Amino acid sequence: MPLNWFKDVGKIYDKGQPYVTFAKTEVGRESIEKGLKSLVSGEKLGVAVEVGPGVNPFLNKVEADRKVFVDVSKTLLDKLRVGRQFDFFSKTFFVQGKVQSVKGLPESLPVKKSDLIIMNEVLSHVHPDAREGVLRDLAGKSNKILITDMFEDRGLGVNPEQISDVLTREGFSVKQSKHMVRVRAKSKSGGLESEVLNYFIIQAKK
Ligand SMILES: C[S@@+](CC[C@H](N)C(=O)[O-])C[C@H]1O[C@@H](n2cnc3c(N)ncnc32)[C@H](O)[C@@H]1O
Repeated sequence: MPLNWFKDVGKIYDKGQPYVTFAKTEVGRESIEKGLKSLVSGEKLGVAVEVGPGVNPFLNKVEADRKVFVDVSKTLLDKLRVGRQFDFFSKTFFVQGKVQSVKGLPESLPVKKSDLIIMNEVLSHVHPDAREGVLRDLAGKSNKILITDMFEDRGLGVNPEQISDVLTREGFSVKQSKHMVRVRAKSKSGGLESEVLNYFIIQAKK
């Protein structure tokens, strides 16, 4: 039976990151770094959080006293802990957990208030019915939020307008950009096929 994108998320990432993410592509990495730079604009943060960093963390691009990585996958968290460049200037915490609790209530983010939350390609793993709650919880926990994900047009993606609407209602000013990436993937016949995928970056600031 195929794995359920929402329920079996732990299993999907059991053995590592199984597919190329936007953050792993050159366009993606550069665009996210640029978005982050303009959101944080060189300031030193107190607490910065990254949800679902997988093996492509972006918190090392910002200065913060405390950095918190939250991921549902212990495998990926362990890889990150081992492979991370040692950061002498901040205390780093690795927390295994979901951005939303099992009940769909976003209680498990282990900080009350932070200066930045980054979440790249995680919201697509949150069931559509629980997304608004998660976004409102994030909005209450930070003044700066950067979210990237794939567009709904792949069936499994996210609607950036929903994120924009929720965060705007929560008092954020929101900037949205769209990015197209050409990736090469194995076709059913075994050859290589090129596919264009659409991603968005949301930068939100209070
Ligand atoms: C598509 S990968 C993205 C990894 C990385 N951020 C990137 O962009 O390359 C999804 C990541 O989020 C984690 N994840 C998925 N659902 C999660 C949830 N509900 N709460 C916290 N982490 C989650 C996965 O373990 C994985 O590390």
